[in-house]
Amino acid sequence: MAFRFVHYEVNADATKPKHLTGDITMKFFVDTADIDQIKELLAYGMVDGVTTNPSIIAKSGLDILEVTKEICSIVDGPVSAEVVALDHETMLAEGLKLAKIADNIAVKVPLTWAGLQTCKVLSDQGIMVNVTLCFSANQALLAAKAGATFISPFIGRLDDINLDGLELIDDIRTIYDNYGFETQILAASIRNANHMSECAKIGADVCTAPPNVIKAMANHVLTDNGLAGFMADIKKAGIKIL
Ligand code: E4P
Repeated sequence: MAFRFVHYEVNADATKPKHLTGDITMKFFVDTADIDQIKELLAYGMVDGVTTNPSIIAKSGLDILEVTKEICSIVDGPVSAEVVALDHETMLAEGLKLAKIADNIAVKVPLTWAGLQTCKVLSDQGIMVNVTLCFSANQALLAAKAGATFISPFIGRLDDINLDGLELIDDIRTIYDNYGFETQILAASIRNANHMSECAKIGADVCTAPPNVIKAMANHVLTDNGLAGFMADIKKAGIKIL
């Protein structure tokens, strides 16, 4: 893990990054447009927000505006909805339309110069922006400078090409902490439960993962074996509580 230099100016505690002072909790976003799956995880308190992208919307077969509105009606936290244009003017018009759906919309823009320009304009208007498709620390630095609420580095897609997705999360954490950037690191393209705890160790502000990955976090063979042993003893001894 890289050495982190954090600027402490007057009061060390007051200038510490929030994730190091315990002021905020690590947030779980669910990477899906499946309403039933979101509702299921909401019941366990595992949904602090939702992310979607054009592929997720296409897979749902639903209208982007309608499904996004429905998600916003059941989730209090940020709901990311992605623009589909490539040029700034159209992206901005799309972003403003998406932002009108609900107060908790985070407009998702790609990490291109047009996306960064759109990020700057929307964030200046107080609209949450999630800059997506981030694959380098330099890109994350640009997004923070443009006022992004969230930066989405894609772990799994880097791992897919034999690069280290978690190392990128660590690098961005170091850079943001060095200067007190408030852009939240939203670890994305999470493919397994291990990614979740590794991101938590690094200090990612948010992890967005498909429902099956969040559910897999509870799995452990020793829990299964231990419970089987307890159940056998409960049956043998006839233990009852109710
Ligand atoms: C979320 O914001 C991303 O779009 C998503 O995590 C991408 O995941 P994938 O690389 O598994 O498609």
